[in-house]
Amino acid sequence: MSDSAEIPEALVKALREASRVCVLTGAGVSAESGVPTFREAQTGLWEQYRPESLATMDAFLADPAFVWKWYRWRRELVAKTEPNPGHLALAELEERYEDFTLVTQNVDRLHRAAGSRNVIEFHGDLFADICIAGCADPAANDDEIPFCNHCGNFLRPGVVWFGEAIPQEALYRSSEAAERCDVMLCIGTSSQVYPAAGLSGLARQNGAVTVEINPEPTGGPEFNFVIAGPSGLILPELISSLEQ
Ligand code: OAD
Repeated sequence: MSDSAEIPEALVKALREASRVCVLTGAGVSAESGVPTFREAQTGLWEQYRPESLATMDAFLADPAFVWKWYRWRRELVAKTEPNPGHLALAELEERYEDFTLVTQNVDRLHRAAGSRNVIEFHGDLFADICIAGCADPAANDDEIPFCNHCGNFLRPGVVWFGEAIPQEALYRSSEAAERCDVMLCIGTSSQVYPAAGLSGLARQNGAVTVEINPEPTGGPEFNFVIAGPSGLILPELISSLEQ
């Protein structure tokens, strides 16, 4: 892979003329911050487990202490990371548009840390504790398996697990943003997990210019432009092209 990529002039023109922009990000955007992606091998203690086999309600109910241990490991790992130039470039891009929506599948809070404002955390927030019975605002605590101070049920991490629905408001706002945008950027995602993976197709069907940025592009037919390269390199280049 070369260390710079050509940003197509037609894409720069589309972004200059756009009034509404929607971005979908996945784990690849945080890879350069040191957060492991989902479909790469896990490290150390967890290398023998697939995230998919831990991130379910069945796995949690079978062994909540074990699942909490995995999430605490992820929290500690993510807490040490910082936004990379890709996150920062997206926060900068937002400043150019009145209607800008960043839908992220990432649960690491790094877009917010970079200064992005209109962020939809499609798969939740790794650092939130929520009650499995749905009580509002349970107090966090450090028990091996934390319990809800309202109802006594288990608390669980505030992320969307396999087999669970996306919270209605996040799904509604993201679909609306994808439907109305002029340009949709799809960055650092393997586009294997729905409904997030359907947002770029929705944008394209509604007339948006669609763009994939990924060092290993998915080859999805819904994209008008594909830029092969890491987001930490390509996104700052995109901003420079817009400024020229
Ligand atoms: P994946 O791990 O499936 O895919 C990561 C993508 O990032 C791959 O396509 C890589 O080629 C790409 N990538 C790697 N390094 C990159 C870089 N420096 N710049 C840009 N792209 C890079 O992650 P997601 O697609 O985000 O769900 O996975 C989707 C969902 O599956 C996650 O949100 C999570 C997981 O199970 C839940 O937790 C509900």
